[in-house]
Amino acid sequence: MEEIQKFIQQHIHALTWQEEHAGLYDPIDYMLASGGKRIRPCLCLLSAELFGGSKENAIYPAIAFEMLHNFTLIHDDIMDKALLRRGKESVYTKWNTNTAILSGDTLFAESYRYLLRYQGTELLTLISLLTDTAIEICEGQQWDMDFEHRNDVTINQYIDMIRLKTSVMLAACLKAGAVTASASEENRQRIYDFGIQIGLAFQIRDDMLDVYADVAKFGKNIGGDIAENKKTYLSLQAMHLAQGEDFDRLRYCFSSFDGTKEEKFIAVKSVYDKYNLKHHAQDRINSYYEEAFLLLDQIDVDQQHKQPLIDFVNQLIDRDS
Ligand code: IPE
Ligand code: IPE
Ligand code: MG
Ligand code: MG
Ligand code: MG
Repeated sequence: MEEIQKFIQQHIHALTWQEEHAGLYDPIDYMLASGGKRIRPCLCLLSAELFGGSKENAIYPAIAFEMLHNFTLIHDDIMDKALLRRGKESVYTKWNTNTAILSGDTLFAESYRYLLRYQGTELLTLISLLTDTAIEICEGQQWDMDFEHRNDVTINQYIDMIRLKTSVMLAACLKAGAVTASASEENRQRIYDFGIQIGLAFQIRDDMLDVYADVAKFGKNIGGDIAENKKTYLSLQAMHLAQGEDFDRLRYCFSSFDGTKEEKFIAVKSVYDKYNLKHHAQDRINSYYEEAFLLLDQIDVDQQHKQPLIDFVNQLIDRDS
């Protein structure tokens, strides 16, 4: 894993940006340099190696997807009014919204430019995968915002939303690695489906950490989802489980609340705590990981070749950053 992380880091470090357009590229450089866990390129490289390919070949989609991811975060922070990202000011906070929009757009195009360096025969397959993924993420992000204003969102609708905004990118990274390794169609689909399950678990964990994490480790402000009336696994399950006064309090918090953000957070969190939502969320997370590993079992490559991917994914289950 260390070797893979280092390999990714070297490629990100090697990116150069035109100095005469510092206003446009500095925010991109800032965002990419701020790190993050680099989960998406890791998944891409691990999948390539799983299917007998090389990390040298898979690095093009791997970095392209990491760029796409960073672009989505730059815009997501505007949409979510998030001031902190990876322990630093978000791009729109440090610069301004217009700059974040434009630098984000540029990074999106740069992700294609990077992918176009790929020399293999299936470049079009990879471009098509990146394109479909980018569109699906936007579809998920629109639902995420639409749901802020609705109080009839079901758990299944929420799952559909997070599948789009989060899972498809993890799945696409795994599939891209498989494509660079010329894996069979069946295996490409299986590793994609594995990624979908991982992604659902990953986003529910993110929802949970948005309430229960330690800011210093999480690198994002706590309580953003509650402040913005986001539909999360916790908020939906809370509405489902809460009785009487608790239900009324949640309803009030998520509609006409007229206190401060801090008061709202405390009120909502007290209901979450009372109904043990943290544990409900972790149960659901565990069941998606179990489902994922069942899918991985069905992939017809040597069990020992799966171990690096299994070890990597195991680290995500109880992540706190
Ligand atoms: C953040 O993704 C967005 C979500 C899907 C929850 P990560 O948690 O992978 O962000 P970084 O890249 O490590 O900062
Ligand atoms: C993650 O949603 C999905 C995308 C950014 C596309 P969040 O809004 O929960 O992600 P964070 O918590 O800001 O990283
Ligand atoms: Mg966000
Ligand atoms: Mg968001
Ligand atoms: Mg979040």
